[in-house]
Amino acid sequence: MNIILIGFRGTGKTTIGRILAQRLGKVFIDADEYLEQREKRTIQNIFAEGGEDLFRDIEVRIIEELCRLNDTIIATGGGVILREENVRRLKRNGIVILLEADVNTIYKRIYENIQTQHKRPNLTNLNGYQEIEYLLAYRRSLYDKAADFVFDTTVLPINDTVNKIIAFTQNYTVALKNCSNV
Ligand code: S3P
Repeated sequence: MNIILIGFRGTGKTTIGRILAQRLGKVFIDADEYLEQREKRTIQNIFAEGGEDLFRDIEVRIIEELCRLNDTIIATGGGVILREENVRRLKRNGIVILLEADVNTIYKRIYENIQTQHKRPNLTNLNGYQEIEYLLAYRRSLYDKAADFVFDTTVLPINDTVNKIIAFTQNYTVALKNCSNV
């Protein structure tokens, strides 16, 4: 099975996904990076050309490709849960892990980290903090519905989160095997 990381921007999907892959000796794919390589343009450019609708249509095609993989760690874009078919496809052969963090932490990670600053288009006309609050409220039930397990990365050190995810996915896989043997 794949391990799929979902969650809002700044919850640690890419960072944790990379470490998980190293620890488990598996391939890591960041869905946004893969999308940009496939499209030969940046997400900013896609939004500039066709807005969020165009981006979401492309994202559906990319997820359709990625969910054919096996035994891969995949970090998805924060809005992947907005299209129901993405979730359905990812869950078919993937354990879906939701990463969460509180609004202040997400804000700091997105807007005060030089590496992530200005890399992603705004999705509303709200200011940064309000946009996070608004989108989290809007997406909350979609994230929860998609998740097999939830980890809060607000205070827990990255390596502890990685350890917990590894333990969870191993138990989960054993439980699935036992179920299929019954
Ligand atoms: C988005 C999050 C981004 C990227 C796009 C849309 C979102 O991914 O897919 O800008 O809707 O939350 P990250 O969560 O990796 O930043």
